[in-house]
Amino acid sequence: MNWALTSLLCSLVLGVSSNKLAPKVMLINMFIDEAEVWYDIPEFNVLAQNITIPGLSPLFPQIHCTKEGDICQIITGEGEINAASSISALVYSSRLDLTSTYFMIAGIAGVNPKVATIGSVALARYAVQLDLEFEIDAREMPSDFPTGYFAQGTTAPGQYPSTIYGTEVFEVNENLRQAAFDLAKVADPQLNDTADSQANREQYASFGTAVTSPPTVVLCDSATANTFWTGDLLGEAFENVTHLFSNGSATYCVTQQEDNATLNALLRGTLAKLVDFSRIIIMRSASDFDRPPQNETALANLLGDTPGFEPSILNLHIAGVKIVEGIIAGWDSVFKCGIKPANYVGDIFGSLGGEPDFGLGRMGPIPL
Ligand SMILES: *[C@@H]1O[C@H](CO)[C@@H](O)[C@H](O)[C@H]1NC(C)=O
Ligand SMILES: *[C@@H]1O[C@H](CO)[C@@H](O)[C@H](O)[C@H]1NC(C)=O
Ligand SMILES: *[C@@H]1O[C@H](CO)[C@@H](O)[C@H](O)[C@H]1NC(C)=O
Ligand SMILES: *[C@@H]1O[C@H](CO)[C@@H](O)[C@H](O)[C@H]1NC(C)=O
Ligand SMILES: *[C@@H]1O[C@H](CO)[C@@H](O)[C@H](O)[C@H]1NC(C)=O
Ligand SMILES: *[C@@H]1O[C@H](CO)[C@@H](O)[C@H](O)[C@H]1NC(C)=O
Repeated sequence: MNWALTSLLCSLVLGVSSNKLAPKVMLINMFIDEAEVWYDIPEFNVLAQNITIPGLSPLFPQIHCTKEGDICQIITGEGEINAASSISALVYSSRLDLTSTYFMIAGIAGVNPKVATIGSVALARYAVQLDLEFEIDAREMPSDFPTGYFAQGTTAPGQYPSTIYGTEVFEVNENLRQAAFDLAKVADPQLNDTADSQANREQYASFGTAVTSPPTVVLCDSATANTFWTGDLLGEAFENVTHLFSNGSATYCVTQQEDNATLNALLRGTLAKLVDFSRIIIMRSASDFDRPPQNETALANLLGDTPGFEPSILNLHIAGVKIVEGIIAGWDSVFKCGIKPANYVGDIFGSLGGEPDFGLGRMGPIPL
């Protein structure tokens, strides 16, 4: 990818009109509560046009857009398979031109109390797929194993995977993340919080001060698995895996069920020259803790109340709308031609070019 040339060409093109819809921002939500927080808001009306896209989830067969088509929303359905399938259908739709679109994942997540707290809104640089591993039930594991999970192609926990599928780690544009962070950070004082959420996080005081502070917009990484896990041991095991897979770069912070799948579909779309992988924002607000407080069992934490749910949903809009508005307002001056990444962006294979700062070295195809 020759950035200088691409950027020059972009600035020379005065706006090609085509009959395809070319949104500036595509919100990516996973289920209905994350989607509805964007309806009936003062800033814009994303229900002004609904467009049926073949291949989307049967539950959410249409994307929703503003009248001008500047801002759109897709609801993928939950879990890795729904996310990958829906985003692929979006990318290959003949009705859309997504080559300049900013994709913003806007969903809720679990959170590591050592790093952040419920209600906080995290912007991630790395997304790590945790469940791409071997597993044996802990009751049957060797007595010297700290966990039943270990990387594929290895013989015990802690060893770097030798069988790589390609979706283990993704890295997005750090300069864009910082720009999004600056835009969203002004919303800190407005972020929603409730007495129940405060009481919940107070129970985690032994984990440090990050967890007991009020919610804020934070920078930390995202971890994907289909399994909705909870507990001290799995939390620690996945902290380790995040560190291992990313060669020490990523911090296990927010946990969810879709991001690597969405990123993989967008990576393939970039190889097909239909989307731009340097225009992705991963935003995850924390709804619940990934492990119990000290005097509670893992099962009680999993099945108990989720007081952080409502604030986390509200905060997707409160923080995220600042990013959307910032992209629209700064379109001509900053965003139209893109924000040049200074870091590696792409997957563990190096498919988009460049040398990944994680993984076993470049394995991807040579980009044309
Ligand atoms: C778009 O769909 C939503 C329901 O998903 C509906 O409320 C809205 O009225 C629809 N908009 C148009 C223009 O039909
Ligand atoms: C998922 O994506 C993140 C960053 O986008 C990356 O750090 C992580 O390694 C990926 N995990 C897998 C298993 O692909
Ligand atoms: C958070 O949202 C709830 C529900 O709308 C509301 O009752 C509460 O006052 C809000 N809290 C803050 C701090 O905005
Ligand atoms: C995490 O890694 C540390 C350091 O290697 C190790 O001591 C610990 O047992 C691991 N924990 C789990 C649950 O895998
Ligand atoms: C756990 O302990 C905290 C204080 O240490 C207390 O406020 C809370 O009610 C306890 N929770 C349970 C479920 O016992
Ligand atoms: C990541 O760690 C593995 C295992 O130690 C190593 O083989 C690989 O070279 C490292 N990758 C980078 C980019 O440092």
